[in-house]
Amino acid sequence: MSEEKKITPAENGNEFNRRAFFVKLGLGSLSIAAAGTAAFSYQFLSPNVLYEPSPIVNAGRPENYAVDSVTLDVNSGIYLIHAQEGFFALSAICTHLGCLTAWKPELGEHGIIACPCHGSKFYVRDTGKTPGEKIEGPAPKPLPWLQTSLSDEGDLMVDRSKQIDPMKFLRV
Ligand code: FES
Repeated sequence: MSEEKKITPAENGNEFNRRAFFVKLGLGSLSIAAAGTAAFSYQFLSPNVLYEPSPIVNAGRPENYAVDSVTLDVNSGIYLIHAQEGFFALSAICTHLGCLTAWKPELGEHGIIACPCHGSKFYVRDTGKTPGEKIEGPAPKPLPWLQTSLSDEGDLMVDRSKQIDPMKFLRV
């Protein structure tokens, strides 16, 4: 005669609780995996774009710059120079290791551009030399001339992404 094992109501309840626990655990794991997949897919599908500021700088009205003035725009890293021959723009970024240079009107006969990092110095005006040319220091190249133009509204525009040959002045 076989003996049937009787399951008590208390044992039946434990079994149910255990099963419900494992079902919940499985569902939780699936949810976490699905969330991870969704996050990865979103990252994979969204464009990998680097938003850089425009290289074109609006330097404002030409009449704001006196003749023989040298103006450093620290934010955009350019000099706007109003020479007797017209306007031109120089990069203010030192060609040695990329430090921001400074306009020193008190140095030299007519002022110079000087780099605070390793002492490179550059001509700016009234010297018979090409503005941007190196005077001394470790900088391997002159400060580049940048393309300048007038907008339709008459503002001075400097394109930091376009270097031009020296001594090309913008006459306004
Ligand atoms: S970064 Fe200007 S001299 Fe070195």
